[in-house]
This record gives sequence, structure tokens and C-alpha cells, in this order.
Amino acid sequence: MKDSEKLNPTLVNPTTQQRPSHSHSAKIMLWLILAVSLTYFIYTLKLVSTSSNCNHGPFSINHHSSSINAANSTTISSSKRTELRHVVFGIAASSKLWEQRKNYIKLWYNEKKMRGIVWMDDNVKTNPNEGLPPVKISTDTSNFPYTNKQGHRSAIRISRIVSETLRLGLKDVRWFVMGDDDTVFVTNNLIRVLNKYDHKQFYYIGSLSESHLQNIYFSYGMAYGGGGFAISYGLAKALVKMQDRCIHRYPGLYGSDDRMQACMAELGVPLTKEIGFHQYDVYGNLFGLLAAHPVTPLVSLHHLDVVEPIFPNATRVEALQRLTIPMKLDSAGLIQQSICYDKEKRWTISVSWGFAVQIFRGIFSPREIEMPSRTFLNWYRRADYTAYAFNTRPVTRHPCQKPFVFYLSKAKFNSTIQQTVSEYEKHRVPHPECRWKMANPSALDKVVVYKKPDPHLWDRAPRRNCCRVMKSNKKGRMVINVGICKDGEVSEP
Ligand SMILES: *[C@@H]1O[C@H](CO)[C@@H](O)[C@H](O)[C@H]1NC(C)=O
Ligand SMILES: *[C@@H]1O[C@H](CO)[C@@H](O)[C@H](O)[C@H]1NC(C)=O
Ligand SMILES: *[C@@H]1O[C@H](CO)[C@@H](O)[C@H](O)[C@H]1NC(C)=O
Repeated sequence: MKDSEKLNPTLVNPTTQQRPSHSHSAKIMLWLILAVSLTYFIYTLKLVSTSSNCNHGPFSINHHSSSINAANSTTISSSKRTELRHVVFGIAASSKLWEQRKNYIKLWYNEKKMRGIVWMDDNVKTNPNEGLPPVKISTDTSNFPYTNKQGHRSAIRISRIVSETLRLGLKDVRWFVMGDDDTVFVTNNLIRVLNKYDHKQFYYIGSLSESHLQNIYFSYGMAYGGGGFAISYGLAKALVKMQDRCIHRYPGLYGSDDRMQACMAELGVPLTKEIGFHQYDVYGNLFGLLAAHPVTPLVSLHHLDVVEPIFPNATRVEALQRLTIPMKLDSAGLIQQSICYDKEKRWTISVSWGFAVQIFRGIFSPREIEMPSRTFLNWYRRADYTAYAFNTRPVTRHPCQKPFVFYLSKAKFNSTIQQTVSEYEKHRVPHPECRWKMANPSALDKVVVYKKPDPHLWDRAPRRNCCRVMKSNKKGRMVINVGICKDGEVSEP
């Protein structure tokens, strides 16, 4: 099954560039390509259907879908902008994993500012002082048919979370946001994204899997549940009227999110892709993905039990707790990349604000550095570049090009200069010997980054920030400034 990821994309892609009306030979070419594509497609399908079982493994329980209903949306006059209080979270959880998974929810959920319900399969111990959302038991779904041999029928109860939440009749709801018990939301960025859309209309907002094969097998039009997705109030009202009938029509589907997508297809509502929602169907180290995030707000992280802790030498929960420090200082800029050069020393510098700084010997162009390096394995546990639905670059093998990585150690706001000051400490790992006659970044211990908070970053057209190497008067320390690019300022090697 694992060979299925060894697709050769060059066989498939040229069809899009072929001009069909050209000549006889072009036609023959087209048929050839079609035949090859078809063979490949059938081959892939076969492999996927035999392999999908193990790919989901223990996570299948946690997929979900949801919807809640609130009040009277016509009377929401108090504020035009969508705020956190207009969102109701529907969290898909299972009683077995609750004691451990609730720690992820504690990282982002604030009971004073947010509303949410944890939908559970069975009773769990709860403690009102933990600040977690209230727990409710999903209604019985044993009368719904479920025939998928690889999945679990909890998918049905989870796909009904949106409807069940809507039926609670909460007031002043604009969006129902679904997540798993191992999804971490950056809620301020979620709000930034939702504000682009009219909650009275029908919106189904989320993102795909990183895995090309998962997307082929499930759908390129499906919001993956673990990354979280949002259903507008208008759409939830339409969904609740038909969802139970709809679910009866798809007993063979695997999970909750494909059931949701099937109902969306019946409603004729396409997926609105917002690529800051992250399913993270990968194994290993997320570093490459977090160090080169697309220019869009970071909305969610998922599968945190599957990947390594995002900071070295910390537990998973400790590492995420550290990320909440810059999240509170400047959520819009969290993990946003900027690229600059130390021209004198001939180094390339990539900042992922609030997470890590990388220094490379030599000059890499922004088009290389903005691609995630493959520090992670695909969902079939292989390092295979054809497995992803986006561009990646290999981890460099050249002994001189291994980046020097500095991880966030602390961050604060300095009110005198009205800027955030975040510090990044060198990850002390052995570096291979390099014979290039040039400045060695290993002389540095720390990078300090100054950045003005920029809550309106995403109200403008998307653009990377610029970074600049500043003078440092301390040995072993690099000082960088990150901010809006000035007129004419470019990441020019
Ligand atoms: C909506 O709210 C208004 C004012 O609070 C109330 O008069 C009206 O009956 C409500 N409508 C519905 C459908 O609940
Ligand atoms: C990891 O953390 C422990 C305890 O905080 C510390 O003693 C140790 O030096 C750390 N190791 C590295 C490689 O930073
Ligand atoms: C804030 O920055 C100023 C100027 O760099 C510095 O003198 C001051 O010590 C800083 N304050 C704190 C609390 O770090």
C-alpha cells in the first residue's frame, strides 16, 4: 500500500498544458497521457482502499462535525463585527481519552469569553473549576445505519454535533465551529477569518489534509474535521432540517467529516478553503511546516499527539503552552515568516515569529525558503515529496547548509518602545564540519526579535513582513527587527 504514494506527477500534470486542437501528434499524445492517467488512477484507488484502514488508526474516533443553533439572528444588531461571543464551539471528544485530551482544550479555551460544548460518548468526571466547556452526551444514534468496515460508528454522533448544538437554542450565535479534543485553536485568528464572511449566508469553511492521497480518497472538497471547520448560522439552520435523512443515505462512509461533506454536497454548498486550519496528517517533526507557514493567519493545529512536541526538550502540552505567550502578544503575527539576509556575513535568515529563527550559511532565495522543508513524514510514514498537496523542499544534505535553529525561549511586550521583544535560543545539536571560508553562525547563542504588534495585519492584502538584521552590541547575539515592509523594501538577496 505504501507504494501508492510513489506517483510520478510529471505523468499526470502535462494534460493541463496540452492544447488539444493542435495537431495529430498532439492528439495521440493526449490519448497516451489519458491512458496513463487512468491506469494510475485505478491503481491508486485500489491501493488506497486497501490501506485506508490503518491510516486513520486511533484517530477515527475524533473526527467530527457539528452545528448548534442559537437565536434570532435578525436581531443581532449589537455589533457588526463578528466576535468570539458569536461563536459556539462543538468539540468532538471520547470518554476514554478525556483525561489526557482535556489538557489541549485548556490551552485555548476561555470560559469567560467563549461558548462551547464538549460532546461525549459517555459520562466523564468533570470539575467546574477547570474552566473547560460543559460536557454533554450525544444522543443515541444506534438506529442510524453504519456499514463501513474500517471506521467506527461514533462518526455518526460526531457528524450530528452541529445539529445537536443548534437545537440547544443558544442566543446570538453566528458560527458553529467544530474541532476535535486534540485541536488547538488560535481563537483571535479564527475570528479574523470568520469576519470575512456573512454568517447569514451558507458557508462551510475549513481546510484539506496535507496528504494528497487522503484528499483523493476522501475528497478535495471536504473540510477535515481535526483541523476544525466553521458552519455559518444560516447554513446550520438549513442543515438541521435535512441532516438526519442525509446521514441515512450514506451508511458506507468512513467518518464524520465525509458525512458532513456529503450533506454539504446535497445542499450544494462548496468548501471555502482557509488554509490556516491545519489537519496535520503527518508524522515526525512539524518544524518545516511551522517555520514556513503560508501567508494566512494560523487558525488551528491538530494531531498534536502524533507529532513530536513543537519545542525540543518539552512535553507536548508544555511546548504548546510556550506558544501561547507570543499568541497573546500578537496573535495575527504568530508563526508568520519573514526572510532577510546578513549581507556582510552572507547568511540567509528566516524568522517564524513566536516560534523559531533559522540561519543558513549562504544565500537562499525567498522562493526556496518559503517552501516547508520536509522535516516530517507523510501519513504513510514515508519521506516522499509526491505525497503532499503543496510544495515542499528536501532537508539539505550539504554539511554547510544545515540551518542553525533558534527556538523561542521567552517573549514580552516592552511598553517603553511599544514593541514585542521575543528571544530565541540556539538548539544545541552537533553540526557537521563545514569547509566554507565564511562566518560561522555557531558563534551565536541567541537571537532577539523586535516587532510591533500588528492586529490589523490581515485587514490588508496578504504580504509577508520584512525583517532586518540590526546592530548588536552583545557578543553571540543577533538582533532582528520584523515589521511591515517599507516602500520599496524587498527580500532581496
Ligand atoms: C427575536 O428577538 C426579538 C427581540 O428580542 C423578538 O421580539 C422576536 O420575537 C424574536 N424572534 C424570534 C424568531 O425568536
Ligand atoms: C532539557 O531540560 C532539562 C531540564 O529542564 C535540562 O536539564 C537539560 O539541559 C535540557 N536539555 C537540553 C538539550 O536543552
Ligand atoms: C524596554 O526597552 C528599553 C529601550 O530598549 C529598555 O531601556 C528597557 O529596559 C526595556 N524595558 C523592559 C521592561 O525590558
